[in-house]
Amino acid sequence: MLKLGVNIDHVATVRQARYRSNPDSRRRVEPDPVEAALLCERAGCHGITAHLREDRRHIIDEDIVRLRQAITTRLNFEMANSEEIIAIALRVRPDIVCLVPEHRQEVTTEGGLDVAGHSASLRETVRRLNGAGILVSLFVDPEPAQMEAAATVGAQFVELHTGRYADHFHLKRERNDELQRLIAAAEAARSAGLQVNAGHGLTVENVALIHLVPHLEELNIGHSLISRAIFVGLETAIREMLGAMAGYAAGPKA
Ligand code: PXP
Repeated sequence: MLKLGVNIDHVATVRQARYRSNPDSRRRVEPDPVEAALLCERAGCHGITAHLREDRRHIIDEDIVRLRQAITTRLNFEMANSEEIIAIALRVRPDIVCLVPEHRQEVTTEGGLDVAGHSASLRETVRRLNGAGILVSLFVDPEPAQMEAAATVGAQFVELHTGRYADHFHLKRERNDELQRLIAAAEAARSAGLQVNAGHGLTVENVALIHLVPHLEELNIGHSLISRAIFVGLETAIREMLGAMAGYAAGPKA
């Protein structure tokens, strides 16, 4: 079964928009990403994803600690390969860490990791996290060379960046090109012995063609779910997405 990890950063973004500059009022924690995570679990999601950015623009340290204590599915801790955040991961012990590139100016994670270009430091981080019992995923663009590099540094998973596919969804030729890249990358990841997740920019509409990508374990989805939740509520939004993902067959496609 294709699993759904819900990225609840966007709930924290709404909270921080009001309370960031007033730490005292932050105790009102409205909307609370932990409460949102529990609703997502009640609706049937398989995991919760949260990104503690170095600038703490949405998720803050105590959210990660509270999520670890409260949720009963898996905690996927998205983070940069930075010493400060690695130390937090080693303390909090999420089930899995997804390492992402991080730039202060970006609105969201814009590109995948250059694994080959940072192999020594990534290998060391994977070793330390694995040593604490934490699985490691690397967020990568759908390029076969990145899959080999991810396996070489010892990661267990890759998360294929679906942002370009999502951005080109309404342009038939470009969309098909991006789908082919995702399919080839998933095959390369599997051949390299990696498990395969995917995410970024996925919606109920564009997830339909993601069924063509083989070997997927989990999709990590945030923005479209939280946007939809404004109109129909979080639980309904999650159930709609689970419905759109149902029937996924992981094997090679005919
Ligand atoms: N996966 C990763 C690695 C991400 O950085 C993000 C965005 O925070 C997502 C998945 C979810 O993307 P979206 O919010 O566009 O669904």
